[in-house]
Amino acid sequence: AETRHYEFNIKMQNVTRLCHTRSIVTVNGKFPGPRVVAREGDRLLIKVTNHVTNNITIHWHGIRQLRSGWADGPAYVTQCPIQTGQSYVYNFTVVGQRGTLFWHAHISWLRATLYGPLIILPKKNVLYPFEKPYKEIPIIFGEWFNTDPEAIISQALQTGGGPNVSDAYTINGLPGPLYNCSAKDTFKLKVKEGKTYLLRVINAALNDELFFSIANHSLTVVDADAIYVKPFQTDTVLITPGQTTNLLLRTKPNSPAAAFLMTARPYVTGPGTFDNSTVAGILEYESSAAASIKKLPLYKPVLPPLNDTAFATNFTNRLRSLASPQFPANVPQKVDRRFFFTVGLGTTPCDRNATCQGPNGTKFAATVSNISFVQPTTALLQAHFSGQSSGVYTADFPFSPLRWFNYTGNPPNNTMVGNGTKLMVLPFNTSVEVVMQDTSILGTESHPLHLHGFNFFVVGKGFGNYDPINDPKSFNLIDPVERNTVGVPAGGWLAIRFLADNPGVWFMHCHLEVHTSWGLKMAWLVLDGKLPNQKLLPPPSDLPKC
Ligand code: C2O
Repeated sequence: AETRHYEFNIKMQNVTRLCHTRSIVTVNGKFPGPRVVAREGDRLLIKVTNHVTNNITIHWHGIRQLRSGWADGPAYVTQCPIQTGQSYVYNFTVVGQRGTLFWHAHISWLRATLYGPLIILPKKNVLYPFEKPYKEIPIIFGEWFNTDPEAIISQALQTGGGPNVSDAYTINGLPGPLYNCSAKDTFKLKVKEGKTYLLRVINAALNDELFFSIANHSLTVVDADAIYVKPFQTDTVLITPGQTTNLLLRTKPNSPAAAFLMTARPYVTGPGTFDNSTVAGILEYESSAAASIKKLPLYKPVLPPLNDTAFATNFTNRLRSLASPQFPANVPQKVDRRFFFTVGLGTTPCDRNATCQGPNGTKFAATVSNISFVQPTTALLQAHFSGQSSGVYTADFPFSPLRWFNYTGNPPNNTMVGNGTKLMVLPFNTSVEVVMQDTSILGTESHPLHLHGFNFFVVGKGFGNYDPINDPKSFNLIDPVERNTVGVPAGGWLAIRFLADNPGVWFMHCHLEVHTSWGLKMAWLVLDGKLPNQKLLPPPSDLPKC
């Protein structure tokens, strides 16, 4: 294993898309940001220096951070932000993971422009459990806003309304030819005939689940969130914000005299407005025959309709852990603690003397177990480690909400939610099952839930209300998909299991950034174990202060 060093200088950079030039926050002036590459087992030392006026943190999305929670990155959860002129070295080791992940800013909406691939190669001389790819290509989806996303979210939070949607989706930062003023900003993938390409696909968009497809080519899914799955073929992939996946693309044996669009557009389940535009890139065969033809015919893929829940359900049902002797699925078979959490939208009162644009003059809010999470002003992990939780958080997260109504039926009259900075405490090595139930209080919606510090197994899901007697009978405890982000179905429920073997404070939230901003987030506090190697490491000396 090696130690790899990176330097992230956070600085402003002028970037033009759709004929709009904005000064955006970047890493090293790049948009999207630089690739971080490591092998399983390597240590990463990434020095982040803040040269902008915003406070910054960076999250290594999907990295388990075993005992190294100080390097996880969510602002006010594991660290105070890096302030202007300061730096912080994120120091962590990649243990037992290989595949595609990503890094992104984890404060306010700065991940709109601060994100990039995090690629973990297998250990030296260890092969992939599939054919060796000829080339590996990152494909990272994002969103482009013609105005400043920080202004968009702060205006939405003040007025209580829904924020403006993005103006385009992007592939590797480029909106592509289907948008006005964008043809020259198109991602092109030049390929050779008869080869296998590994596409490392990341959804870094703020607010939209995406369908992705390449015209006249099928894709083989081999991995999800840096865990191998049983390979399967599909024409279209569904990927939620926070999810990553590796796909094999086998190119045609004889050079076709054509070019092929790759496109992505959203899967929409919720109420409210969405950016329903389509991003496109181009797959081109390098062969001389194709190159000599000036105007190649261009084939477009057919994507599922925007609200195609049948496709989404069918696709996610096909994801199964590889569960091989070399890559076993260690699904917790027995459960120490069972939790039932609701996830969904609600409302909070408008500030006195203000007019709010949310439902019935209130503000939008979003919750886990009907609690809209209030961000503290100091970091939870520091408060825990130093034994100074008083005034920062309370350890009374409600584990089972009142069963006051039929969650997916008619909404209740009272849509007001509670709030607080509440943590759920778990002793070391607790085996946990969490059922997350979407609610219809303000309309059902699919919520891509992301857990920090762990992968979990998706042992069950369904539509309607969870039935605690009958639904567990059909749980998959053999080869359920293992991942860090999963969509709770709109108007349905989802059951996950994980082993709490990583001491620290671990954020869990909807990866639709607007829902995170509205409070659809909570944190687990996993206590130290008895043995020395079961304890959270002490904080690094350069850990930022609030
Ligand atoms: Cu990708 Cu808490 O985030």
